[in-house]
Amino acid sequence: MRRAVCPGSFDPITNGHLDIIGRASKLYDVVHVAVMINQSKKGLFTVDERIQLIRDVTADFGNVEVESFHGLLVDFCKQRDIPAIVKGLRAVSDFDYELQMAQMNNGLSGVETLFVPTNPTYSFLSSSLVKEVATWGGDVAHLLPPTVHEALVKRLGEK
Ligand code: PNS
Repeated sequence: MRRAVCPGSFDPITNGHLDIIGRASKLYDVVHVAVMINQSKKGLFTVDERIQLIRDVTADFGNVEVESFHGLLVDFCKQRDIPAIVKGLRAVSDFDYELQMAQMNNGLSGVETLFVPTNPTYSFLSSSLVKEVATWGGDVAHLLPPTVHEALVKRLGEK
């Protein structure tokens, strides 16, 4: 089995994330989506809600497994025998930090990081920007899968 992981916070998953996961799912037998838990960041969605949303929108790919993890990404990879991390690169500004993480992860455990250029349609897209725009009533429907958009509107309405 050729395995890869797409890690992130996914608070919530966007069309940009979905594009990268879908492309990785064509290259690997199994794609693990790891919702990495960061206790210092309070999310808009709970980790369980994020997992459920990701499962809903990746179900059609047929080879995507979604779970959360608390700890180092390299340990997630070691425990599941995953040799590759797949990350989307939106712009040159992503590159510095992504390169640092890729080199650190490779130095820690030998895991490789593969960068996929983001679809230009989504090159400006991030979960935090989507949340900010939606909070102030901006239209983000075209940037999220419909179920995620619905969940976001509902969550912001509860606030
Ligand atoms: O969606 P994000 O928040 O940009 O994703 C960042 C993430 C979760 C992929 C990164 O912070 C990460 O890998 N965290 C897990 C902890 C870890 O392994 N840290 C060392 C990275 S070199």
